[in-house]
Amino acid sequence: MQVGVIRGMLTAAAALLCFATVSHAADGDPTRGQKKFYTCLGCHGVEGYHNAYPTYHVPRLRHQHAAYIIAALNEYKAGQRPHPTMHAQAWSMNDQDIADIAAFLQGEPTKPNTDVVGTKPAQADACAACHGVNGTGVDAPLEPKPPVLAGQHYDYLLQAIDSYRLGRRKNAVMNGMAGALQTEADVEALARYFADQKSPLTAVPRK
Ligand code: HEC
Ligand code: HEC
Repeated sequence: MQVGVIRGMLTAAAALLCFATVSHAADGDPTRGQKKFYTCLGCHGVEGYHNAYPTYHVPRLRHQHAAYIIAALNEYKAGQRPHPTMHAQAWSMNDQDIADIAAFLQGEPTKPNTDVVGTKPAQADACAACHGVNGTGVDAPLEPKPPVLAGQHYDYLLQAIDSYRLGRRKNAVMNGMAGALQTEADVEALARYFADQKSPLTAVPRK
Protein backbone atom coordinates (compact mmCIF):
# COMPACT_ATOMS: atom_id res chain seq x y z
CA MET A 1 0.00 0.00 0.00
CA GLN A 2 1.21 3.53 -0.79
CA VAL A 3 2.23 5.81 2.08
CA GLY A 4 -0.18 8.46 0.75
CA VAL A 5 -3.07 6.00 0.92
CA ILE A 6 -2.21 5.13 4.50
CA ARG A 7 -2.00 8.81 5.42
CA GLY A 8 -5.39 9.42 3.78
CA MET A 9 -6.91 6.50 5.69
CA LEU A 10 -5.54 7.85 8.99
CA THR A 11 -6.92 11.34 8.30
CA ALA A 12 -10.34 9.88 7.45
CA ALA A 13 -10.18 7.73 10.58
CA ALA A 14 -9.28 10.69 12.80
CA ALA A 15 -12.18 12.72 11.35
CA LEU A 16 -14.62 9.89 12.06
CA LEU A 17 -13.39 9.55 15.63
CA CYS A 18 -14.18 13.22 16.32
CA PHE A 19 -17.82 12.65 15.41
CA ALA A 20 -18.19 9.62 17.64
CA THR A 21 -20.63 10.13 20.49
CA VAL A 22 -19.91 9.16 24.06
CA SER A 23 -22.62 6.94 25.49
CA HIS A 24 -23.09 6.25 29.18
CA ALA A 25 -23.66 2.57 29.77
CA ALA A 26 -25.18 0.95 32.84
CA ASP A 27 -22.60 -0.35 35.34
CA GLY A 28 -21.98 -4.03 34.76
CA ASP A 29 -21.83 -6.67 37.49
CA PRO A 30 -19.44 -9.50 36.55
CA THR A 31 -21.02 -12.04 38.93
CA ARG A 32 -24.46 -11.55 37.38
CA GLY A 33 -22.79 -11.48 33.97
CA GLN A 34 -21.25 -14.89 34.49
CA LYS A 35 -24.69 -16.38 35.24
CA LYS A 36 -26.21 -14.69 32.21
CA PHE A 37 -23.39 -16.01 30.05
CA TYR A 38 -24.25 -19.63 30.88
CA THR A 39 -26.28 -20.16 27.68
CA CYS A 40 -23.43 -18.75 25.59
CA LEU A 41 -20.86 -21.29 26.73
CA GLY A 42 -22.03 -23.94 24.24
CA CYS A 43 -20.23 -21.91 21.57
CA HIS A 44 -17.95 -19.35 23.28
CA GLY A 45 -16.79 -21.74 26.00
CA VAL A 46 -15.43 -24.28 23.53
CA GLU A 47 -11.94 -23.56 22.18
CA GLY A 48 -12.04 -24.29 18.46
CA TYR A 49 -15.86 -24.16 18.06
CA HIS A 50 -16.96 -23.23 14.52
CA ASN A 51 -19.76 -21.21 13.02
CA ALA A 52 -21.75 -23.64 10.81
CA TYR A 53 -21.90 -21.73 7.54
CA PRO A 54 -19.76 -20.07 6.37
CA THR A 55 -17.24 -22.00 8.43
CA TYR A 56 -15.00 -19.96 10.73
CA HIS A 57 -14.10 -20.04 14.42
CA VAL A 58 -16.42 -18.45 16.95
CA PRO A 59 -14.52 -15.36 18.26
CA ARG A 60 -12.60 -15.49 21.53
CA LEU A 61 -14.37 -13.24 24.02
CA ARG A 62 -12.59 -13.61 27.37
CA HIS A 63 -10.57 -10.40 28.12
CA GLN A 64 -12.07 -8.50 25.19
CA HIS A 65 -12.87 -4.86 26.16
CA ALA A 66 -16.24 -4.39 27.86
CA ALA A 67 -17.05 -1.25 25.84
CA TYR A 68 -16.52 -3.18 22.61
CA ILE A 69 -18.65 -6.16 23.76
CA ILE A 70 -21.45 -3.70 24.59
CA ALA A 71 -21.20 -2.15 21.13
CA ALA A 72 -21.10 -5.57 19.43
CA LEU A 73 -24.18 -6.91 21.24
CA ASN A 74 -26.12 -3.71 20.47
CA GLU A 75 -25.11 -3.99 16.82
CA TYR A 76 -26.41 -7.58 16.63
CA LYS A 77 -29.57 -6.52 18.45
CA ALA A 78 -30.19 -3.71 15.96
CA GLY A 79 -29.24 -5.87 12.97
CA GLN A 80 -26.41 -3.48 12.00
CA ARG A 81 -24.27 -6.55 12.20
CA PRO A 82 -26.25 -9.31 10.53
CA HIS A 83 -25.78 -12.74 12.05
CA PRO A 84 -28.95 -14.80 12.68
CA THR A 85 -27.60 -16.72 15.70
CA MET A 86 -26.18 -13.68 17.46
CA HIS A 87 -29.26 -11.60 16.62
CA ALA A 88 -31.38 -14.29 18.27
CA GLN A 89 -29.07 -14.23 21.31
CA ALA A 90 -29.01 -10.44 21.66
CA TRP A 91 -32.48 -9.23 20.71
CA SER A 92 -34.10 -9.89 24.11
CA MET A 93 -31.21 -8.48 26.20
CA ASN A 94 -31.65 -5.16 27.97
CA ASP A 95 -28.85 -2.64 28.67
CA GLN A 96 -28.23 -4.14 32.12
CA ASP A 97 -27.86 -7.70 30.75
CA ILE A 98 -25.41 -6.46 28.15
CA ALA A 99 -23.38 -4.43 30.67
CA ASP A 100 -23.22 -7.40 33.10
CA ILE A 101 -22.06 -9.83 30.41
CA ALA A 102 -19.48 -7.32 29.15
CA ALA A 103 -18.09 -6.78 32.69
CA PHE A 104 -17.79 -10.56 33.15
CA LEU A 105 -16.11 -11.14 29.79
CA GLN A 106 -13.56 -8.35 30.19
CA GLY A 107 -12.54 -9.13 33.77
CA GLU A 108 -9.47 -7.08 34.72
CA PRO A 109 -8.79 -4.61 31.90
CA THR A 110 -5.82 -5.71 29.78
CA LYS A 111 -2.93 -3.35 29.06
CA PRO A 112 -1.70 -2.67 25.54
CA ASN A 113 1.93 -3.61 24.76
CA THR A 114 4.18 -3.14 21.72
CA ASP A 115 5.78 -6.60 21.41
CA VAL A 116 5.68 -7.82 17.82
CA VAL A 117 5.69 -11.50 16.79
CA GLY A 118 7.02 -12.08 13.24
CA THR A 119 7.29 -9.40 10.57
CA LYS A 120 4.76 -6.59 10.60
CA PRO A 121 3.17 -6.10 7.14
CA ALA A 122 3.25 -2.47 5.92
CA GLN A 123 -0.57 -2.43 5.76
CA ALA A 124 -0.73 -2.83 9.55
CA ASP A 125 0.61 0.72 10.00
CA ALA A 126 -2.84 1.99 9.00
CA CYS A 127 -4.41 0.07 11.91
CA ALA A 128 -1.95 1.04 14.66
CA ALA A 129 -3.56 4.35 15.73
CA CYS A 130 -6.57 2.44 17.07
CA HIS A 131 -5.60 -1.25 17.42
CA GLY A 132 -1.95 -0.72 18.42
CA VAL A 133 1.10 -2.03 16.49
CA ASN A 134 0.21 -5.61 17.42
CA GLY A 135 -3.56 -5.53 17.97
CA THR A 136 -3.36 -5.23 21.78
CA GLY A 137 -4.69 -1.66 21.56
CA VAL A 138 -3.44 1.81 22.51
CA ASP A 139 -3.47 3.71 25.78
CA ALA A 140 -5.65 6.56 24.46
CA PRO A 141 -9.32 6.49 25.58
CA LEU A 142 -10.85 5.98 22.12
CA GLU A 143 -14.57 6.09 21.54
CA PRO A 144 -15.88 3.84 20.03
CA LYS A 145 -13.53 1.37 21.69
CA PRO A 146 -11.59 -0.69 19.15
CA PRO A 147 -11.50 -4.43 19.93
CA VAL A 148 -8.38 -6.43 20.77
CA LEU A 149 -7.30 -8.20 17.56
CA ALA A 150 -4.12 -9.88 18.90
CA GLY A 151 -4.54 -13.65 18.98
CA GLN A 152 -8.11 -13.62 17.65
CA HIS A 153 -8.77 -16.56 15.27
CA TYR A 154 -7.32 -16.04 11.77
CA ASP A 155 -10.45 -17.17 9.91
CA TYR A 156 -12.68 -15.03 12.11
CA LEU A 157 -10.53 -11.92 11.47
CA LEU A 158 -10.55 -12.68 7.75
CA GLN A 159 -14.34 -12.81 7.53
CA ALA A 160 -14.69 -9.76 9.83
CA ILE A 161 -12.50 -7.57 7.60
CA ASP A 162 -14.27 -8.86 4.48
CA SER A 163 -17.67 -8.13 6.03
CA TYR A 164 -16.64 -4.50 6.60
CA ARG A 165 -15.16 -4.32 3.12
CA LEU A 166 -18.39 -5.54 1.51
CA GLY A 167 -20.50 -3.32 3.80
CA ARG A 168 -22.31 -6.32 5.29
CA ARG A 169 -21.12 -5.27 8.74
CA LYS A 170 -21.75 -1.58 9.18
CA ASN A 171 -19.33 0.64 11.06
CA ALA A 172 -18.31 4.00 9.61
CA VAL A 173 -14.67 3.74 10.72
CA MET A 174 -14.08 0.14 9.73
CA ASN A 175 -16.03 0.31 6.44
CA GLY A 176 -13.57 3.04 5.43
CA MET A 177 -10.45 1.26 6.71
CA ALA A 178 -11.32 -2.12 5.20
CA GLY A 179 -12.63 -0.58 1.97
CA ALA A 180 -9.22 1.01 1.39
CA LEU A 181 -7.50 -2.40 1.38
CA GLN A 182 -6.77 -3.17 -2.26
CA THR A 183 -6.52 -6.94 -2.50
CA GLU A 184 -7.58 -10.14 -0.74
CA ALA A 185 -3.84 -10.73 -0.17
CA ASP A 186 -3.73 -7.51 1.93
CA VAL A 187 -6.67 -8.77 4.01
CA GLU A 188 -5.03 -12.18 4.51
CA ALA A 189 -1.69 -10.63 5.51
CA LEU A 190 -3.38 -8.46 8.15
CA ALA A 191 -5.54 -11.28 9.53
CA ARG A 192 -2.49 -13.58 9.72
CA TYR A 193 -0.35 -10.94 11.43
CA PHE A 194 -2.89 -10.02 14.12
CA ALA A 195 -3.86 -13.66 14.73
CA ASP A 196 -0.19 -14.54 15.35
CA GLN A 197 0.37 -11.91 18.05
CA LYS A 198 0.58 -12.77 21.75
CA SER A 199 -2.91 -12.38 23.09
CA PRO A 200 -4.88 -11.78 26.22
CA LEU A 201 -7.94 -13.32 24.46
CA THR A 202 -9.16 -16.86 25.22
CA ALA A 203 -12.33 -18.91 24.97
CA VAL A 204 -14.50 -18.33 28.05
CA PRO A 205 -13.61 -20.76 30.87
CA ARG A 206 -16.50 -23.06 31.87
CA LYS A 207 -16.19 -23.18 35.62
C1 HEC B 1 -24.59 -21.16 18.41
C2 HEC B 1 -23.31 -20.54 18.75
C3 HEC B 1 -23.33 -19.23 19.54
C4 HEC B 1 -23.97 -18.95 20.73
C5 HEC B 1 -24.88 -19.87 21.55
C6 HEC B 1 -23.58 -17.61 21.09
N1 HEC B 1 -22.73 -17.08 20.16
FE1 HEC B 1 -21.85 -15.24 20.21
N2 HEC B 1 -21.03 -15.57 18.38
C7 HEC B 1 -21.19 -16.72 17.63
C8 HEC B 1 -20.61 -16.51 16.31
C9 HEC B 1 -20.56 -17.52 15.17
C10 HEC B 1 -20.09 -15.19 16.31
C11 HEC B 1 -19.43 -14.44 15.15
C12 HEC B 1 -20.57 -13.83 14.34
C13 HEC B 1 -20.11 -12.81 13.35
O1 HEC B 1 -19.36 -13.18 12.43
O2 HEC B 1 -20.50 -11.64 13.48
C14 HEC B 1 -20.38 -14.63 17.63
C15 HEC B 1 -19.99 -13.36 18.02
C16 HEC B 1 -20.19 -12.82 19.28
C17 HEC B 1 -19.70 -11.55 19.74
C18 HEC B 1 -18.87 -10.57 18.92
C19 HEC B 1 -17.39 -10.75 19.22
C20 HEC B 1 -16.49 -9.87 18.40
O3 HEC B 1 -15.26 -10.02 18.50
O4 HEC B 1 -16.99 -9.01 17.66
C21 HEC B 1 -20.13 -11.38 21.03
C22 HEC B 1 -19.86 -10.20 21.94
C23 HEC B 1 -20.89 -12.56 21.37
N3 HEC B 1 -20.91 -13.43 20.29
C24 HEC B 1 -21.51 -12.77 22.60
C25 HEC B 1 -22.38 -13.84 22.86
C26 HEC B 1 -23.21 -13.93 24.05
C27 HEC B 1 -23.24 -12.91 25.17
C28 HEC B 1 -23.94 -15.09 23.93
C29 HEC B 1 -24.98 -15.66 24.89
C30 HEC B 1 -26.07 -14.78 25.26
C31 HEC B 1 -23.53 -15.73 22.68
N4 HEC B 1 -22.60 -14.93 22.05
C32 HEC B 1 -24.00 -16.94 22.23
C33 HEC B 1 -21.78 -17.90 18.04
C34 HEC B 1 -22.56 -18.04 19.18
C1 HEC C 1 -9.82 4.96 13.69
C2 HEC C 1 -9.73 3.75 14.47
C3 HEC C 1 -9.51 2.43 13.73
C4 HEC C 1 -8.57 2.12 12.77
C5 HEC C 1 -7.50 3.02 12.17
C6 HEC C 1 -8.78 0.71 12.46
N1 HEC C 1 -9.79 0.20 13.22
FE1 HEC C 1 -10.46 -1.73 13.21
N2 HEC C 1 -11.93 -1.23 14.53
C7 HEC C 1 -12.12 0.02 15.08
C8 HEC C 1 -13.36 0.02 15.84
C9 HEC C 1 -13.97 1.20 16.59
C10 HEC C 1 -13.91 -1.27 15.72
C11 HEC C 1 -15.24 -1.78 16.25
C12 HEC C 1 -16.28 -1.54 15.15
C13 HEC C 1 -17.60 -2.25 15.34
O1 HEC C 1 -18.22 -2.10 16.40
O2 HEC C 1 -18.00 -2.98 14.40
C14 HEC C 1 -12.98 -2.04 14.90
C15 HEC C 1 -13.13 -3.38 14.57
C16 HEC C 1 -12.23 -4.13 13.86
C17 HEC C 1 -12.33 -5.56 13.64
C18 HEC C 1 -13.42 -6.48 14.17
C19 HEC C 1 -12.88 -7.37 15.29
C20 HEC C 1 -13.90 -8.29 15.89
O3 HEC C 1 -13.65 -8.81 16.99
O4 HEC C 1 -14.94 -8.53 15.27
C21 HEC C 1 -11.27 -5.93 12.85
C22 HEC C 1 -10.94 -7.31 12.35
C23 HEC C 1 -10.51 -4.73 12.60
N3 HEC C 1 -11.10 -3.65 13.23
C24 HEC C 1 -9.34 -4.69 11.83
C25 HEC C 1 -8.68 -3.50 11.49
C26 HEC C 1 -7.59 -3.45 10.55
C27 HEC C 1 -6.99 -4.66 9.85
C28 HEC C 1 -7.23 -2.13 10.45
C29 HEC C 1 -6.16 -1.53 9.56
C30 HEC C 1 -6.29 -1.80 8.14
C31 HEC C 1 -8.10 -1.37 11.33
N4 HEC C 1 -8.97 -2.23 11.93
C32 HEC C 1 -8.04 0.00 11.52
C33 HEC C 1 -11.29 1.12 14.94
C34 HEC C 1 -10.26 1.22 14.01
